Amino acid sequence: MCSQKRLLIWLFPIASCGGMPKESASSASVERSVASETEGFEDFGATEGTSEEKASARALLGVRPPPKPFDQMSEEEQLNWMIGYVMPIAAEDFKAYDPERYASVSCELCHGPEPEKEHYRMPNPALPQLPKPGSPDWERMEKGRAFAFMRDVVTPTIATLVGKERWSPEVPNGFGCFDCHLERESK
Ligand code: HEC
Ligand code: HEC
Repeated sequence: MCSQKRLLIWLFPIASCGGMPKESASSASVERSVASETEGFEDFGATEGTSEEKASARALLGVRPPPKPFDQMSEEEQLNWMIGYVMPIAAEDFKAYDPERYASVSCELCHGPEPEKEHYRMPNPALPQLPKPGSPDWERMEKGRAFAFMRDVVTPTIATLVGKERWSPEVPNGFGCFDCHLERESK
């Protein structure tokens, strides 16, 4: 995406030379130079990765902490941060994990069917509720496909994007599974 934009900026002044007399040799050479600029940029792009990687939200935005602590932001700043950083990166990650199920996601993915009514409150009771950590059900869940994605991609990414340290026994107030999911009542 970036290099396409750059390409347009490059082409514009060259294309504006089109006002030159048709019969002049320069018009052909302009075309040639446009072609070679294009080729040059394609090559340049190729060294950055595949075309899919070029449009990557992760690569373009970066997984980074917010400019100030998320809970000290105004609601408008929080909304903008979610829209600008959290949503595009989460959408890309979920889509990579399961392209069909997460073909098109929005704030509802994490915040439930009526996010505004719920004031985007997290954890969100509409998400699948998790078993008690350490329980047999938890161990069963660990063997499922979603677990590694949740532990290795979703949790660390969103923790960084909301500027929080990741949960661990040593960081009990850190950001973890239960900042999004509720624990389900055990029988
Ligand atoms: C990948 C999951 C995810 C997605 C998608 C997501 N959010 Fe969030 N959002 C969170 C989490 C987690 C928090 C709580 C952060 C924290 O712990 O401080 C949050 C908090 C918020 C808050 C602050 C709520 C409060 O309690 O003050 C707002 C506002 C918000 N999100 C808006 C949005 C909007 C708008 C979108 C869609 C553009 C969106 N979010 C998409 C995970 C998500
Ligand atoms: C930023 C919010 C967030 C965090 C943190 C998070 N999850 Fe999730 N989790 C989700 C969302 C969103 C889904 C997808 C729900 C859907 O498909 O509708 C999900 C789905 C799951 C599923 C699949 C459930 C099912 O029935 O398909 C499991 C299991 C799961 N999470 C476990 C975990 C565990 C374990 C952790 C901590 C290591 C964790 N999650 C951390 C948001 C989160």
